[in-house]
Amino acid sequence: MIAPIKKIAILTSGGDAPGMNAAIRAVVRACTYYSTECIGIYRGYQGLIEGDFKQLTARHVSNIINKGGTILKSARSTEFRTDEGRAKAYKNLKKENIGALIVIGGDGTFTGGLKFIEEYNFPIVGIPGTIDNDIYGTDKTIGYDTALNTVVEAIDKIRDTASSHNRLFFIEVMGRDAGFIALNSGIGAGAEEILIPEHNLGLDRLVDSLNKSKAKGKTSSIVVVSEGDKIGKNVFELADYINQHYPDYDVRVSVLGHMQRGGSPSCYDRVLASRLGVAAVEALLDRSTGVMVGITNGQITTVGLNKAIKMNREINKELLKVAEITSV
Ligand code: F6P
Repeated sequence: MIAPIKKIAILTSGGDAPGMNAAIRAVVRACTYYSTECIGIYRGYQGLIEGDFKQLTARHVSNIINKGGTILKSARSTEFRTDEGRAKAYKNLKKENIGALIVIGGDGTFTGGLKFIEEYNFPIVGIPGTIDNDIYGTDKTIGYDTALNTVVEAIDKIRDTASSHNRLFFIEVMGRDAGFIALNSGIGAGAEEILIPEHNLGLDRLVDSLNKSKAKGKTSSIVVVSEGDKIGKNVFELADYINQHYPDYDVRVSVLGHMQRGGSPSCYDRVLASRLGVAAVEALLDRSTGVMVGITNGQITTVGLNKAIKMNREINKELLKVAEITSV
């Protein structure tokens, strides 16, 4: 008979995302509920290598459900990519009698987790936490909904000044190589054009569309540009091009940057994080490993970590059409 898991550790890794604290809280409290000890690992895989551990009880996670960031801190550890780093990490887990690990993060976090499972056969379950929403096997990742609301609020404000000055604004949003934030915030904020890496609009079509908007009487325009889009080398080059070739546009650039990762999580993210936190503990206690817990059509699901990071999440074509139709 396999011995029951008595101690579960948890870490957050990669870019932080609003709702990570709600997920930590849910994991700690699910551990308490199922009489399992919970150990918090600080600074992601780096803290695992350095043995930066602290026992977490239900009371340690009081009053954090509404807080952005992660109380466990996060890091992108280069040492964990080395054999020596992972060997130290394994030694620390064994020394503390930790029986399983929950990792909250995105593709980098899951890639590290998979490698660790392959080498040490250590039980790991992943929880998707990234504002980018670029993970396969879940309808949404923790933090994405909050980031969308933050972006829309920021664009609404920029729209006020864009309209007062009859300006064309290029607004760069995060998402790494994925256009989910750009496409959905662009629709939500009523952008004229949305540039995403998954769908190359092309410079000529962009210019054509801007000229048509102008001819139709629009005096100001918002173009949302995903940071991964490659029409221009970057958003500044794109704006320079328009400035040089179409001097009658008064162009400005706004890069929203890391403010998109902060702030109190939305109710959606808090509920999602709470459900996934509980599901991750239950999955480990049921002896699952190498999987990510997610939500598909409202139901808790699991998918292999290898699939979560390797399979592409398709952009919804209907959304592209809605963006086009609603910007006429
Ligand atoms: O993955 C989350 C994310 O915010 C991406 O959208 C962005 O490209 C990246 O992290 C920025 O990373 P850093 O905080 O290391 O600059």
